[in-house]
Amino acid sequence: MQTVRNRVADILGIDLPIVQAPMNYIAGHALAAAVSAAGGMGVLGPNAGKVQGEEISMRERTLREFARIREVTDKPVGINVVVPDGENKAALMYARGTVEAAAEGGATAAFCVGGLQPMIFELIKEKGMKLIVRPLTPTVKNAREAQAMGADIFVATGYDAGGFLPSHHTGTFSIVPTIVDAVTIPVLAAGGINDLRGVRAAFALGAEGVYVGTRFIATNECAANDHAKELICKLSGSNLLYVDETQRSLPTEFAAEAYVKHRLAPTVPTTVDLVGALRTGMYDGEPDKGIVTVNTGIDVIRSVVPAAQVVSELMADFLRYADFLKAKASAEEATPKA
Ligand SMILES: Cc1cc2nc3c(=O)[nH]c(=O)nc-3n(C[C@H](O)[C@H](O)[C@H](O)COP(=O)(O)O)c2cc1C
Repeated sequence: MQTVRNRVADILGIDLPIVQAPMNYIAGHALAAAVSAAGGMGVLGPNAGKVQGEEISMRERTLREFARIREVTDKPVGINVVVPDGENKAALMYARGTVEAAAEGGATAAFCVGGLQPMIFELIKEKGMKLIVRPLTPTVKNAREAQAMGADIFVATGYDAGGFLPSHHTGTFSIVPTIVDAVTIPVLAAGGINDLRGVRAAFALGAEGVYVGTRFIATNECAANDHAKELICKLSGSNLLYVDETQRSLPTEFAAEAYVKHRLAPTVPTTVDLVGALRTGMYDGEPDKGIVTVNTGIDVIRSVVPAAQVVSELMADFLRYADFLKAKASAEEATPKA
């Protein structure tokens, strides 16, 4: 389908330069398959397909997720690899295992979050997968290092984003052009992109694709619980509470309590198990006992829709241009030659 040339789409082998960002627990097979089938790139998040109480290895669970994706689409699908910053052996082995299982399942791209580890990056390349790198806090230095280490694409995340926050408080409007100027590989913009205006802004800043998390939570296929989806559609960015220095949440009971504790003692390192709190608040626990982490721009998200609709709304300019090229080609074909 791709008739509009774009480096991100070409590298990833997709039609439209939109990536569904991985999200712990809630970005599972149904969401990834729907986005990939619609022409973007779906990405399985960590703990995708986890069932409470089920004894299953990470490899088996990952293979099960990919098998379910393949029932829907044979288009390219990616995997999230959590890469430790330092020499944490167990975390490195887990990252290796994730790459190996995903390659076996047929992933075509690895979206690495965290540190820059040659051992993991080389394995991804060996497996024939594209390497996309997203340090939690993007800088000119780590973008250039990632490029030198063979990254195919770099993700520049602004402070507007949902999930773990960058530590430098630099918004998407500032970080994207900074990174675009620092590297020659294509850059995906992440953080606060929820509608077509956000996509246009990202491209105006020099990004060659968008990396979208929060908007995809409010979709039918996302594995997030209904409570999280309802809060996103009902509430505003101004309702977000800082549960600690690394994460915001919409106001659940748990988040309100964590926020007060954090206000009273902001320098005390976090005592909140944020991954566990996300699972409880957004996936399979008791919603009010966890967090609902989203971006600062949720005011423009009003309803839960199919993921394919998000892809087509955000990619409207690309789809329109593709239609134009198609119409032009068929008009030229129909014109008798002089
Ligand atoms: C609920 C939630 C969970 C997330 N979990 C992960 C994760 O496990 N791994 C990861 O690389 N990024 C994670 N992220 C970050 C997203 O991949 C992406 O960078 C971010 O959502 C983009 O910003 P946006 O939410 O403004 O679109 C998460 C984001 C959200 C909202």
